[in-house]
Amino acid sequence: MSPELRDLIVQLCYLVASVLFVFSLKWMNSPQSARRGVMAGVWAMVLGVGGTLANPAVAVSSLPWIALAVMVGGIVGVPLSKVPLTAVPQRTALSHAFGGLAAGLVGTAKYYLWLHEGGEMLTGFRVFAITAEVILGFLTFTGSLMAAGKLQEFLPGRPITYRGQLIVNFLTLGGAIACAVALIINPQWSFLFPVLVILALAFGVMLIIPIGGADMPTVIALLNSYAGLSAVAMGFVLDNKLLIIAGALDGSSGLILSIIMCKAMNRSFSNVLFGAFGSVQESGGEDSGKTVKSANPAEAAEIMEQADTVVIVPGYGMAVAQAQHRVRELYDQLTKRGISVKFAIHPVAGRMPGHMNVLLAEADIPYDDLIEMDEINPEMPQVDVVLVLGANDVVNPAAKNNPKSPIHGMPIIEADRAKTVLAVKRSMKPGFAGIDNELYTLDKTLMVFGDAKAVVGEMAKTLSGDSGIH
Ligand code: TAP
Repeated sequence: MSPELRDLIVQLCYLVASVLFVFSLKWMNSPQSARRGVMAGVWAMVLGVGGTLANPAVAVSSLPWIALAVMVGGIVGVPLSKVPLTAVPQRTALSHAFGGLAAGLVGTAKYYLWLHEGGEMLTGFRVFAITAEVILGFLTFTGSLMAAGKLQEFLPGRPITYRGQLIVNFLTLGGAIACAVALIINPQWSFLFPVLVILALAFGVMLIIPIGGADMPTVIALLNSYAGLSAVAMGFVLDNKLLIIAGALDGSSGLILSIIMCKAMNRSFSNVLFGAFGSVQESGGEDSGKTVKSANPAEAAEIMEQADTVVIVPGYGMAVAQAQHRVRELYDQLTKRGISVKFAIHPVAGRMPGHMNVLLAEADIPYDDLIEMDEINPEMPQVDVVLVLGANDVVNPAAKNNPKSPIHGMPIIEADRAKTVLAVKRSMKPGFAGIDNELYTLDKTLMVFGDAKAVVGEMAKTLSGDSGIH
């Protein structure tokens, strides 16, 4: 096959892959087309990798090395794909870490290769692209490792802050940028390159340590966009249009996602990046003397049976307990009695965007019964029973009522405005943000202690037993 024909095939693969990437993102916007979106993404990757292997610039002697890298990637990647849904954020962070590392290493290799060849290839623009790729790639690498460590609780989730931290951070980033500028001016000053790499690696760590665990999802989305931008820079270094397009899509979608999440938590970007969220626990204690009323699952089921409207607020606890199928049974029992049952979905309930939607879809809960926070809140005063199922921060009234609370300003599902609240959890321990929840001590609230799956299972069983008696 002539090199021209091979090149044509490569460009065609890249073109189709780019289009598929765009459609993949579009289709992933809706649960109905999400599967198609994932498949489009898979085929885009297959075409991207296939096209690159067909590139005449890839030497045959490199193929065994590529095969080795694919094997190593597979050995790491296959177990990573099997983590439970609750661990997906840290898994995503690890993927960004690997992406950032790859970009950083490619940029470093290109710099030294071109330097070794005499430096003619190291034009101002190429060095600009290489240094951008290396800074973004390496800071994404260490930053994402730190984020994964915090989410997996290998590292303390609480923010680590010290006096003058912002200045130190800016100096570190400023130092890396100064090295980059100097290298653009004179690419032969190779002694600056390792300094730039070390500063970028250090900046990734320093960027994450002052950020609390509760802001990690937003930070991961932001790191996603950094990884995308480093891929764009890598595309310019390697003169690869597919990398530029895919990187730009990755970078912009990460940015859009972090903006959406910031809105859902009522937080500004700068606040997330520099706010040390969750560092101060100034509230709490106030409620510690209050008594808590509790009910057993059967009593709770009877209360729901008397209601006309029930709203279920699922949270992280439902995911941990994998209670979604029992929830479906409860839903069936209640709707069978003519009771209106809706699910109130908070945008950051659980541990990843869309976490609750995915779980409830798995149990075939009709999508129309999943109601967004803004839509359900005005209806709350008319709701007879709210069943808070392993949710905590997303229903904490302190977000509205206590200006000292670290989550103050975050929009919540206003379960406290319903007529009766049933709250299922195992203990009085706080949720992700580590703060008390006054919802549990309200007069209208009954705690139903236990594992969500077992409790909801018993509720459904009570109701199915009842229906036998009728
Ligand atoms: P959380 O505030 O984390 O509360 C979950 C509650 O579930 C806990 O209080 C826990 O209480 C209970 N629980 C745990 N295991 C349970 C089980 N097996 N059975 C019954 N209950 C169980 O959850 P949330 O209300 O969904 O809020 C999410 C939080 O995570 C927010 O702060 C959010 O910012 C943060 N976050 C969100 C994301 C995204 S993007 N969704 C990602 C990372 C972090 P017990 O221990 O007493 O059972």
